[in-house]
Amino acid sequence: MNSLEFCNLPLEELNLVLKSRMNEHRYAHSLNVAERAVFLAEKYGADPEKAEFAGLVHDICKGIPNEEQLSIIENAGIRLDEDTLKSPALWHSVAGAVYCEHEIGVTDEDVLNAVRYHTSGRGNMSILEKVVYMADLTSAERNYPDAEYTRNLTDYSLDEGIAYGVRWIAGDLERRGFPKGKDTGALLEEYKNVEITFEERK
Ligand SMILES: [Fe+2]
Ligand SMILES: [Fe+2]
Repeated sequence: MNSLEFCNLPLEELNLVLKSRMNEHRYAHSLNVAERAVFLAEKYGADPEKAEFAGLVHDICKGIPNEEQLSIIENAGIRLDEDTLKSPALWHSVAGAVYCEHEIGVTDEDVLNAVRYHTSGRGNMSILEKVVYMADLTSAERNYPDAEYTRNLTDYSLDEGIAYGVRWIAGDLERRGFPKGKDTGALLEEYKNVEITFEERK
């Protein structure tokens, strides 16, 4: 990937920025998401170079304190809705998109949206957004109980992967007492009739 196609930093410098903003574990996760995003992009018809770049930068603001994430968002003039304000776990995605646009010069709207919505999802996602959303949930190091199943399911069908993933996320948010918010709610609604036909049992 030539990162200069997507931002104003060559890849070596972009990597230094990423490493300065996150610990080793998160940096390794970012590399894994980028790799997985390329695989899913090639399989499902998104631009693999954009997918790789978006995967690499998707958590560019996750390693900084929540208050800093919020001030990046507010300084960009973005007003979060009430549910998003109650869910600090979503802030790094919004802040990440702002950071990408303002600090490293990303102009591609699809890439910015893939970063912006990688945690919440939203209704009517582009293929690139879907690919990054699922690459983040199924990157190689993910080892939550259903990770292997979700990975295999996503390899079988991107839409079934999303249907399964968003239902799991919505259930988890409910269990933990967080609102699912309008974007996750819209994705859940859009996928409510998608049946899981994949035969491998969990
Ligand atoms: Fe994230
Ligand atoms: Fe991530």
